[in-house]
Amino acid sequence: MEEVAIVGVGNTKVGEWYDNSLRGLTDEAIAKTLQSANISPKEIDATFIGSMSPGLFNQQEHISALIGPHSGITAPALRVESACASGSSALRVAMMSIEAGYYDTALVIGVEKMTDLIDIGDVTTALGTASDGEWELGIGATFPALFALIMRAHMHKYGSTLEEYASVAVKNHKNGSLNPDAQFQKLISMETVMNSRIIAEPIRLFDCSPVSDGAAALIVTKKDLAKKYTDDPIYVKGTGAGIDHIAIHNRKDITTLESTKRATKEAFKRAKIKIKDIDFIEVHDCFTIAEVLALEDIGFCEKGKGGKFSLEGETALNSTISVNPSGGLKAKGHPVGATGIYQVIEVFKQLRNEAGKRQVTKNDIGVTHNIGGSGATSVVNVFSRGD
Ligand code: COA
Repeated sequence: MEEVAIVGVGNTKVGEWYDNSLRGLTDEAIAKTLQSANISPKEIDATFIGSMSPGLFNQQEHISALIGPHSGITAPALRVESACASGSSALRVAMMSIEAGYYDTALVIGVEKMTDLIDIGDVTTALGTASDGEWELGIGATFPALFALIMRAHMHKYGSTLEEYASVAVKNHKNGSLNPDAQFQKLISMETVMNSRIIAEPIRLFDCSPVSDGAAALIVTKKDLAKKYTDDPIYVKGTGAGIDHIAIHNRKDITTLESTKRATKEAFKRAKIKIKDIDFIEVHDCFTIAEVLALEDIGFCEKGKGGKFSLEGETALNSTISVNPSGGLKAKGHPVGATGIYQVIEVFKQLRNEAGKRQVTKNDIGVTHNIGGSGATSVVNVFSRGD
């Protein structure tokens, strides 16, 4: 099997880009990526696009044909969808095609332009189509509501506290304040989080990731070709994916993401690493409870203790394990189908010592964790500086 390297990345700042379009965002991300890898469009054999719902957000399907040719890329293109994990899933498919020897070099791009829907109710409904249509969205359970149920159950079962959850948001906003590409770059206090308005009790405004626009792209190629494009490639050590029931009531335990456990197991096995080998990680914190579950289910702390681990500062930049140095979905923003690629770009920059003020000091191995919906899908990818 071919080994795979990442040789260039590019992205838009995450934000609410009312004066731009889905195509405008992808054009910008692709141009930056081609420049970063010093590659011409003709050298790209295929494009893989992660996007959750351009049909609902922008009334635009068939984006595989919309995006590439407009940027001068006429290679075959495929859209990959697995809700908020679409970006990471697109990267997995690209890697598999290179590992199988089918293509040498591919462009992977994640995009979501969510603010074309002006009414937040319409945005919430579009997002909700990634839950169980019959038993969740169909009876009015939005994502904030589903994660609120999970958070409430975690508080009941393990005694986790609102203060613990608030500490996740405070830490991620602090990291986001060091990231010029983040949607929110302001420091916040525990009081700001705990006094913010209720969205779906016990979830408050600052427990939520925002509604965001953004596009992010990268170039993957065979290990043998990597040095043609950059002196400093990043290597994919292993990838894993897992699923579980889409409806939370069908899960064995709603406070555990079995999909994350499955994806982690596979990725760590392929990468031949153990939890202690990880220097930093980008986890999927669509709500503060989701970061707590990730800490526990990936294995950084005992089950039920993720919130305490966060409140005690173990996940701060350059502490026990740097979690979400980019600011995470909470502060960097969450353009859903693009998020997985933004996570990889953060790992790419951290591994190459290019992360500026938020640079982590231990940076041999970085990991991304990206979930779809309320955790029915998880993708975990492991990257390293050396091959
Ligand atoms: N965190 C912090 N501040 C936020 C925020 C968030 N998640 N969302 C909005 N804001 C801020 C805005 O910047 C704005 O600030 P300003 O008045 O200083 O300009 C203010 O709150 C009002 O913003 P608005 O866009 O009107 O908020 P809203 O009520 O329409 O949306 C949520 C708030 C929480 C409902 C929305 O962000 C949301 O749905 N988040 C979850 C997204 C989601 O489910 N993603 C998929 C996960 S599976």
